[in-house]
Amino acid sequence: MSNSENKLPSIISHCKEYGFIFQSSEIYDGLSAVYDYGQWGVELKKNIKDAWWRSMVYMHENIVGIDSAIFMHPTIWKASGHVDNFSDPMIDNKDSKKRYRVDHLIEQFAEQLSITNPDEANAMLSLMENLLSKDDFTGLKNLIEKYKITCNISNTCNWTDVRQFNLMFETKLGSLAEESDTIYLRPETAQGIFVNFLNVQKTGRMKIPFGIAQIGKAFRNEIVARGFIFRMREFEQMEMQFFVRPGTQKEWYEYWKNARIKWHYELGIPPAQYRFHDHQKLAHYADAACDIEYNFPMGFKEVEGIHSRTNFDLTQHQTFSKKKQFYFDNDIDPATNKPYGNYIPYVIETSIGLDRAILMTLSEAYTEEDLSTPEKQDSRAVLKFPAKIAPIKLAILPLMKKDGLAELAKELMNDCKPHFLCYYEEKDSIGKRYRRMDALGTPFCVTIDHQTKEDNTVTIRYRDSMEQERIPMSEVKEKVLNALN
Ligand code: GAP
Repeated sequence: MSNSENKLPSIISHCKEYGFIFQSSEIYDGLSAVYDYGQWGVELKKNIKDAWWRSMVYMHENIVGIDSAIFMHPTIWKASGHVDNFSDPMIDNKDSKKRYRVDHLIEQFAEQLSITNPDEANAMLSLMENLLSKDDFTGLKNLIEKYKITCNISNTCNWTDVRQFNLMFETKLGSLAEESDTIYLRPETAQGIFVNFLNVQKTGRMKIPFGIAQIGKAFRNEIVARGFIFRMREFEQMEMQFFVRPGTQKEWYEYWKNARIKWHYELGIPPAQYRFHDHQKLAHYADAACDIEYNFPMGFKEVEGIHSRTNFDLTQHQTFSKKKQFYFDNDIDPATNKPYGNYIPYVIETSIGLDRAILMTLSEAYTEEDLSTPEKQDSRAVLKFPAKIAPIKLAILPLMKKDGLAELAKELMNDCKPHFLCYYEEKDSIGKRYRRMDALGTPFCVTIDHQTKEDNTVTIRYRDSMEQERIPMSEVKEKVLNALN
C-alpha cells in the first residue's frame, strides 16, 4: 500500500485489532481525541521513549533527566505567556454550531481553490497569515465572508465573530472554588525544566553548555483534533532544554538539528521521508526555529520542533518569581581575558511528540503484502519495525504441546526473557501463529519441533523476508541480542 491518505484508516483498525491503541472510554462511546495504549502499544511506546532517553541522556555526558509535576504554580503560565497567548482564533457556524480553527477553515478552502486558481489561493493564504498576526480579527471574518466559505455540515456561511480560544485545561486546587485556586494542566513539559534550571545546575554541578531532558504528559484543549493520535488532547512530549552561553546559540541550534535528524534515521526511516521546515514567522521569544516533518499518510507534517528560545523563559521566570536565574561562568572570555561571569543562559529546545513518533513508526512499518500464488489467494499485514522498537522481540512456538516440545520451548523462554520481551504461543497452526506475529511486528519466530529433541536445533523465521533457517537453540538469544544492538 502506498503512503497515501487511505493508509490511515487501515492503521487505525490494525492498532485496535492487535492491541496497540484503543479509543479512550470506548464502552461509553469514547472521548474525542483521547486514546489508550493497549498491551503492545505500551511496549512500542516504552521502546521509543528508551531510544530517545538513551540518545539524549546516556549518550550526552552533559545532559541529565528530570520528572517534574504536571501541576505547577499558575504564575508559571503567566510568565511563559501561555495564559495570554496560547490560543487559536476560532469561529462557530451559527446553524450547525460546529466550531472551526480559522486557519484550518481558510486553508481547506484554499486547497480546493488552488486546483483552479493557484495564484489566488496563494494570495489568500498570505493575506490570512497577515490577518492572523493582528489583534483585531475582523479582517479574518471578512475574508471568510468574501470567499463565501461554508461550514461542511450546514453548508451555510452564517458565522459568529472570530474569537481567541485558550488551549489550556483549567482545574481547581483544593476544595475552595475561588478564582485564585485555578491551576492548569501543563500544555508543555518545557516549563517544568525551566523552573528547575538552577536546582539541577547547582545540585548536579552542571557546567554550561548542559541540557535537561524530560518525558511526560501534556494537555491541550485542541478544538480541531484529528488524524488519530496525531493531534490529541492528552499526549506525551519528549523535550530537552539545552542551556548555552549567549552568542553561541546559532552553532548549538545547528548541532541539535543534526543530532535530532540522525536520531530519526536511526529508527530505520529513510531520509526521503523527512524534511526540515524553517519557521518564517518566529515566535516573539525565538531567534530561529524549525520543524522536522515526516511524510505521514496525510502528507508531510510536524513531528518535532527545534527552537532557539533565547533567554526569554528564564528571564520571564526571574521577573515573575523575583528569584535570580543567573549562571556564573568562570571560563575565560578570550576577548577580555576575564571570566564570562554572570548571565542568564540562552536555550536550544528539542521537542518531539511521543504519540506522533509512534504514529510515524506505525506509518512507516505498516505494510500489506500480496502473497497470492496461482493456486491460492493470500496476503498479510505486517509491521516492519526495527528490532529495537518492536514490542515483542522473539516468539517461541512449539509445533505441538506434547512430546516434551512445550518443555523445551519453556526452557528457551526462561533463558531469553530476562533479556528481552518474548512471547510463547502453542495454539493454532504454525502458519496462523506466524501471521499473528507479523501483525504485531515481531522480528523473530522460533519453532521447536521433534528434530529439536534430537539435535537441539530450531527453525528461526525472519519477519520481513519470511525466510527460515535451522540454527542451534543455544544461538537464538545471541542472534536477537545482536539485532537489538
Ligand atoms: N515546548 C515546545 C512545544 O511544546 P510544540 O510545537 O507546541 O512545542 C512540540 O509541541 C511537539 O509536541 C510537536 O512537534 C508535536 O510532535 C507534539 N504535539 C503538540 N501538540 C500535540 C497534540 N495536540 N497531540 C499530539 N502531539 C502534539
